[in-house]
Amino acid sequence: MASRHQAPKGTFDVLPGDEAAHAAVAAAAAARFAAAGYGRIETPIFEDTGLFARGVGEATDIVRKEMFTFEDRGGRSVTLRPEGTAPVCRAYVEHGMHRLPQPVKLSYSGPFFRYERPQEGRFRQFHQIGAEAIGSGSPLVDAELILLLAGTLADLGIDDVELRLSSLGSPAARARYRDELREFLRSREDELAPGVRDRIDANPMRAFDSDDAATRAVMKSAPRMLDRLDGEDAKHFAAVRELLDDAGLAYRLDGTLVRGLDYYNRTVFEFTCDRLGAQSGVGGGGRYDGLVELLGGPPTPAIGWAAGVERILLAMGATPEPEPIAVFVVAAEDRERAFALVRRLREAGIAADLDLAGRSFKGQMKQADRSRARHALILEPGGTAMLRDMTSGEQREVDPAELVSELGGR
Ligand code: HAM
Repeated sequence: MASRHQAPKGTFDVLPGDEAAHAAVAAAAAARFAAAGYGRIETPIFEDTGLFARGVGEATDIVRKEMFTFEDRGGRSVTLRPEGTAPVCRAYVEHGMHRLPQPVKLSYSGPFFRYERPQEGRFRQFHQIGAEAIGSGSPLVDAELILLLAGTLADLGIDDVELRLSSLGSPAARARYRDELREFLRSREDELAPGVRDRIDANPMRAFDSDDAATRAVMKSAPRMLDRLDGEDAKHFAAVRELLDDAGLAYRLDGTLVRGLDYYNRTVFEFTCDRLGAQSGVGGGGRYDGLVELLGGPPTPAIGWAAGVERILLAMGATPEPEPIAVFVVAAEDRERAFALVRRLREAGIAADLDLAGRSFKGQMKQADRSRARHALILEPGGTAMLRDMTSGEQREVDPAELVSELGGR
């Protein structure tokens, strides 16, 4: 027998039975995006590798070890997108969107790729929904975006997420803080896990993220960026908090919040769901006021978030079922008549189906049941037709010509 293929490790097929749930997430997000004026953008699935190396940051795990990078036939290094913010900023610069009224509000959904160790809630191809507002430094935008994600999750019935909120301050303040943190880590170096010790210089913030018990104990007394906010950074963060308080959105201030991407400054946030275990991050984001300029655009403040569709589905628990079809047409003899009728029903926007496997009359009735159709239309020899309600079992004679109006088609 020929060898069989499987989907690559860490990837999965979205089968028709799961599609309804995926579509429900996309629809909830699309409704919220439209209500808040976030237009949809689609960027390519792959980009120049340099975009992510610069945009996401050379020192991040994503760039160091999680990118699907390959050479195309022209010898260019390209990468399957591991995230959406750098591509959206690339598009903003490339299309001169700084000339549009600011901020430019964009949303997206689609597949993303990271070479991670696959486990529950963590895949190598996964899906994100996301939103970015580019061109405003106002704390109103921070609050708008956080509320947009909170609202989307609420619309999907997810009510046990926690919002963790922090601020990283300005790049200069953050650099000062990183120096202070490095000094602290060096003073306790022999108590730290080797992986943390090796990265004191490159990425000291990662120490807050360590699973190692001894490292965690040390980090309890580490200096926190939140305690070092001053001037405009402190004012900005206070304004964001006030707006969230006014909106009645609960959050937990968490100075240990570490995001896995380098472009952030000021507000950062993450929605987590403890029920999901180790991969508890449902969605997160923050400000990235320097990224557009880093990618060759004018100095442009910006903020956004992305949420994982698979994590959202895990957090939703009960998932929506596919819509049942309206009618399954059963024909003892005249299959051409059944086919013509189904064709007419579909043209009128009524979901209809028929047997395509040469089943007996009994087999077709069984199939009508299995298809979860609301009605079966039984075409009898001699031209009469019976419409059967599949839930109540009630049955009555109908005129097939009247069926479209009977079933509420257009
Ligand atoms: P991120 O936190 O890296 O942020 O990813 C956002 C969300 O994508 C996570 O909270 C998680 O739900 C989901 N996710 C990430 N990796 C995986 C994976 N391997 N398997 C399944 N789900 C995953 C970003 O990507 C930023 N671009 C967000 C952002 C937008 N910041 C500003 N604007």
